[in-house]
Amino acid sequence: MKKREEPKEEDEDEIVCLDESFFINDDYELTTFTFGSQVLQLFCLQSASTDFDLTGQLVWPGAIIMNNYLSKNTDMLQGCSIIELGSGVGITGILCRRFCRQILLTDHNDEVLKILNKNIELHATSESPTTCSGLAAEKLEWGNDDHLSQISEQYSGGFDLVLGADIYILDILSFPSNIYLTYFYLNCCKFILAYVSRTKIMDVLVIDEAVKHGMQVNEVQGTRSVVGNHEGVIYEITLP
Ligand SMILES: C[S@@+](CC[C@H](N)C(=O)[O-])C[C@H]1O[C@@H](n2cnc3c(N)ncnc32)[C@H](O)[C@@H]1O
Repeated sequence: MKKREEPKEEDEDEIVCLDESFFINDDYELTTFTFGSQVLQLFCLQSASTDFDLTGQLVWPGAIIMNNYLSKNTDMLQGCSIIELGSGVGITGILCRRFCRQILLTDHNDEVLKILNKNIELHATSESPTTCSGLAAEKLEWGNDDHLSQISEQYSGGFDLVLGADIYILDILSFPSNIYLTYFYLNCCKFILAYVSRTKIMDVLVIDEAVKHGMQVNEVQGTRSVVGNHEGVIYEITLP
């Protein structure tokens, strides 16, 4: 029988690949959002690509629900040190900065981190609150020990609050486990999750997995609302 020939190096050189940069749209528009009495401007796209997980280039319904909730409850942010998971363009963290002591915005996608840093720069120069000393971004992949230990070293005082808005859309297999492991690692007493219902199985998993990890999940009364055609809610997740 004739033996199959292995591809030679020159053949490999001829394989054409399209990399991520070919698909990237970075035509961001400065957009205004209003949450109660809070008006906030930042750069974002109006639609996103789920290829290469570029979902973070725009503002999601979960962030609208989260920001409406936070803008009505600014007292709970006062003096806090906060970390946000899957920040996208940064609309939640940047709003919190008006009320908290320190906020770290995180994401795993390098392209998303670029627009996140651009929005941070926009607000670092356009606003100078006296309450918040720090607004920064770091790379954080949920459950990644190296990223988490780097952040823990840098922020040795820890965090009072973990925030997450619409942070599970593609990660159906590893969410919510990786997110809960990240919350565990951060050893923080409260996690506020703006959860938007997209699949029935995830509606169940989000609560079951938390309980499995020994956490308590409470739906915050009066936060169930519809944005676009998606229903969402605020969950307060705590470690006993
Ligand atoms: C649907 S977007 C939500 C963005 C923003 N929170 C909002 O509501 O507008 C999900 C975000 O989570 C980030 N993300 C997805 N999987 C992640 C992972 N495994 N680790 C860290 N971030 C992740 C994406 O890059 C994206 O910014």
